[in-house]
Amino acid sequence: MSETCLEGCAAKTQTVGFIPGVILFICFVAAIGAALGIVLTADKYYPSQSISSINTFTSTYVPSTSRNIISTSSVSRYITAAMITTPATTMKSGWSNTGSMNSTRYVHTASILANGKILVTGGQNFFEGVLNSAELYDSSSRIWTSTGSMISRRLFHAASLLSNGKVLVTGGRDSPNSFNSTELYDPSTGVWIRTSNMIYARSSHTASVLTNGRVLVAGGYNNSNSLRIWTLTGNMNYVRSSHTASVLTNGKVLVSGGYVNGIRINSAELYDPSTGVWTVAASMKYVRNDHTASVLANGQVLIAGGLNGTDVLETTELYTP
Ligand SMILES: *[C@@H]1O[C@H](CO)[C@@H](O)[C@H](O)[C@H]1NC(C)=O
Ligand SMILES: *[C@@H]1O[C@H](CO)[C@@H](O)[C@H](O)[C@H]1NC(C)=O
Ligand SMILES: *[C@@H]1O[C@H](CO)[C@@H](O)[C@H](O)[C@H]1NC(C)=O
Ligand SMILES: *[C@@H]1O[C@H](CO)[C@@H](O)[C@H](O)[C@H]1NC(C)=O
Repeated sequence: MSETCLEGCAAKTQTVGFIPGVILFICFVAAIGAALGIVLTADKYYPSQSISSINTFTSTYVPSTSRNIISTSSVSRYITAAMITTPATTMKSGWSNTGSMNSTRYVHTASILANGKILVTGGQNFFEGVLNSAELYDSSSRIWTSTGSMISRRLFHAASLLSNGKVLVTGGRDSPNSFNSTELYDPSTGVWIRTSNMIYARSSHTASVLTNGRVLVAGGYNNSNSLRIWTLTGNMNYVRSSHTASVLTNGKVLVSGGYVNGIRINSAELYDPSTGVWTVAASMKYVRNDHTASVLANGQVLIAGGLNGTDVLETTELYTP
């Protein structure tokens, strides 16, 4: 079966019984919608005119049914404190069109570089399969340009902006097997180089830059072990993937929700970088995976949307540290 989907779609496929391509499209639109803060319901995103084009998709990626979801987290000794800057531009309120990427893509990453450009990496599309290509968006010209391609094709990976301006990409996969590999992008050269493997292979994990500059990777799916440079830190209390991780203003990391063996969870936990210990935090009101979490200026965290197994969610919740 040529099924290609977000983690959260497995149950969706069974429940709804649509062709995988449609499911994939729903997830794609849902992900975009969630990112844009649009209020979604599932039925709004079953556009019939899209079915024929999606039918032409032949996937090279078949999700494994026997992946392990892992609760371990690893911290690297990368750098000191990262800062994200956004370019100041004159804007009218509302949405407007801007340049298109060269490749269609979803389950990619997007990182705001220190120079204000946006780097997108990898992901997947209906025609090229899993991508290693990367593109840069210039917000002043509103144009996308190609930059160096990653060494590996990756989807469900994570990208972290380090304080030295480089972007660390971790894990992901291009087949049912997750990667332990990582690569570093240098914006000054546009070139990717391999860097140290993680201890565990992971995809659909999170990677958070801590205030001490280290990168915390948490959860995800694994298939293989590996070693070095990455140091193991405390395990989370719950295995999970397709969750969120937010660096709070107090430096702790809030992890919320996610997916484990077909079950969505509402549990949340906090990582304390000074002790490496995870503690269980109050659970969210609703189970959800593939949602978003945004740290607001007042320190609260806004959780929005996601999947709960039967529905794409419009609900949002606020966490106060
Ligand atoms: C755009 O993508 C196509 C594949 O869809 C690729 O062949 C081409 O090289 C890309 N162009 C650039 C400028 O990267
Ligand atoms: C997956 O991670 C777990 C730790 O959560 C580890 O015990 C196990 O060996 C890993 N599995 C594989 C196949 O690497
Ligand atoms: C990482 O993954 C590769 C490929 O699965 C494996 O050969 C290797 O032993 C793993 N560990 C390290 C440390 O690279
Ligand atoms: C998912 O959310 C919908 C809408 O809020 C709700 O009716 C349904 O019971 C939820 N399903 C699960 C499994 O929580």
